[in-house]
Amino acid sequence: MFIRTASERDLASIRALLVETWHATYDRIYGAERVAEITDRWHSIDALKVRLTKPRSEFLVADDGTEIGGMAFASADGEGAIVTLLQLYVLPRHQGRGIGGLLLDEVIDSFPEARLIRLEVEQENDRAVAFYKACGFVEKGSAPSPGGGETSVVMERPLG
Ligand SMILES: CC(C)(COP(=O)(O)OP(=O)(O)OC[C@H]1O[C@@H](n2cnc3c(N)ncnc32)[C@H](O)[C@@H]1OP(=O)(O)O)[C@@H](O)C(=O)NCCC(=O)NCCS
Repeated sequence: MFIRTASERDLASIRALLVETWHATYDRIYGAERVAEITDRWHSIDALKVRLTKPRSEFLVADDGTEIGGMAFASADGEGAIVTLLQLYVLPRHQGRGIGGLLLDEVIDSFPEARLIRLEVEQENDRAVAFYKACGFVEKGSAPSPGGGETSVVMERPLG
């Protein structure tokens, strides 16, 4: 898989990736019906398209030439010192092979001015919490879960 910037022609594949990965990750936490509602709203082609041109943002995909296996979307604050990782998803059949790590590295490299990268992850998503810890993030508190689960964990990693 190589990492590249997402383009409009990728959006249908990215939506399919998000729907599949969201069901695999969150059905046990939020329930399949709620996941379908959320993915229809947050991951519609129109909602994704807006992100392609969002200023101070990076929208990346992992591509092997035949399939998109992962995606990431991150945005910097006004001064560029803090980057928020808003989405990082790897198709279930491609997880555990380094793609998430590659996408995260490329996100970080895309914001050379940044001093901190931050994210929120569903507390019950043990696998993702373990992944972020393995990638150098530490827990910094909690926040309400936007998906309606229990709580999100706020995690941060200093950069530079
Ligand atoms: C979380 C996710 C993005 C990680 O991507 P991935 O491609 O599966 O992870 P990688 O193979 O790149 O793993 C990178 C590192 O994290 C570690 N890691 C990955 N999964 C782990 C786990 N379940 N427990 C502990 N460490 C883990 C790996 O050991 C690896 O470290 P290493 O390179 O030193 O061996 C991916 O599994 C995913 O999309 N999960 C479902 C969606 C999700 O939860 N996204 C995050 C929402 S906030």
